[in-house]
Amino acid sequence: MNLAEKISRLKKEKKAIILAHNYQRPEIQDIADYVGDSIELSRKAMFEKDAEILVLAAVDFMAESAAILNPEKKVLLPTLGARCPMAQMLTVDEIKRAKSHYPDAPVVLYVNTLATSKAFCDICCTSANAVEVINSLNADTVLFGPDRNLAEYVAEKTGKTLIPIPEWGFCPTHLLFQPEDITVLRQQYPDATVMSHPECSGEIRRVSDFVGSTSKMCYYAKECSAKTIVVATEEGILHRLHKENPEKRFVIAYEGAVCPNMKLTTLDRVYTALKEEKHVVKVPEKIAKKARTTLEKMFLVKS
Ligand code: 13P
Ligand code: SF4
Repeated sequence: MNLAEKISRLKKEKKAIILAHNYQRPEIQDIADYVGDSIELSRKAMFEKDAEILVLAAVDFMAESAAILNPEKKVLLPTLGARCPMAQMLTVDEIKRAKSHYPDAPVVLYVNTLATSKAFCDICCTSANAVEVINSLNADTVLFGPDRNLAEYVAEKTGKTLIPIPEWGFCPTHLLFQPEDITVLRQQYPDATVMSHPECSGEIRRVSDFVGSTSKMCYYAKECSAKTIVVATEEGILHRLHKENPEKRFVIAYEGAVCPNMKLTTLDRVYTALKEEKHVVKVPEKIAKKARTTLEKMFLVKS
């Protein structure tokens, strides 16, 4: 039996399912029960009834969200080191400091945050619904963290003032995309369409034809008429894009755009995680309760 088959057997034995992010390694996406963006993974975790174990082939904050939204289940993160560096960029102290300067401004946090921070915000958002979440608020000035690029993108779309907390939050992987690379690719593929993630800089967004979450990019790639699509997000998404659109050509805007944290999840580690039922992700109920409210509020916003 190969590893994938062993994992499949263990999944059945233990009533487990694997929820994988769009950036996961191809072999992980192929054994997953569901592959999606961060809001889709949260939704799946929240509504899962039958499974007893949820394996999050993803990074820390995604596993935390699953544990918060469905506390009855055992949530496993195969590698404890799979941490999103952006999620570490916003501390509770920073939120309190910002709030003391803008006491009337609601605090909106990107889901790429730790549960302890989420517990101190008014509502969460993902890159798939950030514009709708901000528009749903009865406020023109909003404290938003930790991604400065997403804050700028949403401010452009909504006309509201988004104050980034911290001032400098960013995703190290999306920072790697440079506008000159897009210029070269546009010359090389004049009929191509360019899609990017809102974690990219404004310079990249402005030369893109479509900006959206990882799954929204997948849906756009299916629907658009372009035969060649330039992709400015983490390279793991190419696997799903190729699988769903075998007739189209996908060109990554920068070949080194790898999130090392996402890539820490390997077949070996998923197998061990399932066999030994580790690493269990638990959020203390006092924090989970507050964070759950901010995530549930997000799900009520139509997007
Ligand atoms: P998505 O919600 O678009 O999948 O984004 C998550 C993420 O970490 C992007 O870097
Ligand atoms: Fe975090 Fe960036 Fe990796 Fe997404 S790509 S998980 S934001 S480091």
